[in-house]
Amino acid sequence: MPATSMEQLVSLCKRRGFIFQSADIYGGLQGVYDYGPLGVELKNNLKNAWWRAMIYERDDVEGLDASILTLRQVLKYSGHESTFSDPLCDCRKCKTRMRADHIKDGKCMNCGSTDLTEPRPFNLMFKTNVGPIDDGSNYAYLRPETAQAIFTQFKNVVDSTSRKAPFGIAQIGKSFRNEITPRNFIFRVREFEQMELEFFVKPGEDEKWHEYWKEQRIDWWVRQGLKRENIHVHTIAKEDLAHYSKATYDLEYLFPHGIEELEGIANRQDYDLGNHTKQQNELDLIAHVHENKDSTAKLALFDDEEKKWYAPFVIEPSAGVDRGVLAVMTEAYTEEPLPNGDTRIVLKLKKHLSPVKVAVIPLKRNNEQIVALARQIKDELLKTGIGRVMLEDSGNVGKAYRRHDEIGTPYCVTVDFESIEQTPATVTIRDRDTMQQERIEVSQLADYFKKQFV
Ligand code: GAP
Repeated sequence: MPATSMEQLVSLCKRRGFIFQSADIYGGLQGVYDYGPLGVELKNNLKNAWWRAMIYERDDVEGLDASILTLRQVLKYSGHESTFSDPLCDCRKCKTRMRADHIKDGKCMNCGSTDLTEPRPFNLMFKTNVGPIDDGSNYAYLRPETAQAIFTQFKNVVDSTSRKAPFGIAQIGKSFRNEITPRNFIFRVREFEQMELEFFVKPGEDEKWHEYWKEQRIDWWVRQGLKRENIHVHTIAKEDLAHYSKATYDLEYLFPHGIEELEGIANRQDYDLGNHTKQQNELDLIAHVHENKDSTAKLALFDDEEKKWYAPFVIEPSAGVDRGVLAVMTEAYTEEPLPNGDTRIVLKLKKHLSPVKVAVIPLKRNNEQIVALARQIKDELLKTGIGRVMLEDSGNVGKAYRRHDEIGTPYCVTVDFESIEQTPATVTIRDRDTMQQERIEVSQLADYFKKQFV
């Protein structure tokens, strides 16, 4: 069983400003959440860690930031219009709508009645009108995955970067799904973010790369603080595979509500590039790609050895940002008994994910000299580029430590009377996890923290 309950996390998120229900003051929009002052920092830090690992630390991946509004044809020919649906059931007694595959023992999830309608497919894509005339014919979709734009922009990226397989295109962005039953806080929502990589390889090398990416992605999640034993690899059964997939591994995590999918790693074969190419050819919208007059393939790569065009296969690690935030918070949330009988709540996040890296606390908020030194230290530390440094002048050091333990700040620097009275000036640094304090010269602080956040 997970150590952390969903109630503990939801309460911390609201109390400290990580995550709020959307339109809270009107009773909330179901399945939609807003990230507050600390949530936006944590989420950005997680996305930056992914971007860094995918693009900066490698030499074979390019980035993309494509539009959310998606032309209908793209999602028609990708297969989403016809197949991107969940089975929907209604309870005839209490009128609750639910996903048929979530029903247990044939009973309504709300009232327990067995009087349910037959399951029928419900398409999960949001439609929206484009332009001033709303007659139902000018619509686009809010993308249900970021991946499709990577496929439709494949030729532009290849032409502008001269990439050869194996290489990837990575993207982080919002996706939208009209989930029948959003639930479990930010786990299943209607508006969420994905971090997706489409890694293009030669057909025949796809299975090797599929294994490679499974291992890479497990390693990355472990580097974000998840315990290896809390990550499960689930091989999706053939009959449950998505319409485009030859094989999929789900990386599942032990969330507070149980073991569920955190990231999918699919072998999408040449399904998408192949389908978009076929449609381009059939519709004859554009002339042949490149100079190869024999090739009918548009979204293709040229094989220098075989001297021919081919559609690459694609391996797709696709992770949910929101599920990632939930997972790292679940793992980090700790309640520790203190000698005085109190309980200390600590968010033991990896330092690079912490919303605030260092809190600088003046012991007395009305002592001008102490506050001025604290402000000067904050400004100096900010210049090191370690991330958010906060001046915490609430005036109560004990409360400030409690708050920063709860939001996962790895270090608190306290400026006291000794700091302004003695030369050289010194301050205390308190470590979040050990609660140990050490005194250090102010002139050494920047170097000290640069080493902690490499
Ligand atoms: N392009 C492939 C794709 O979208 P998916 O398994 O449907 O595959 C990938 O989604 C990831 O996106 C999931 O592993 C999950 O982390 C996240 N995700 C999907 N639906 C979600 C939802 N309704 N709420 C939050 N995250 C979701």
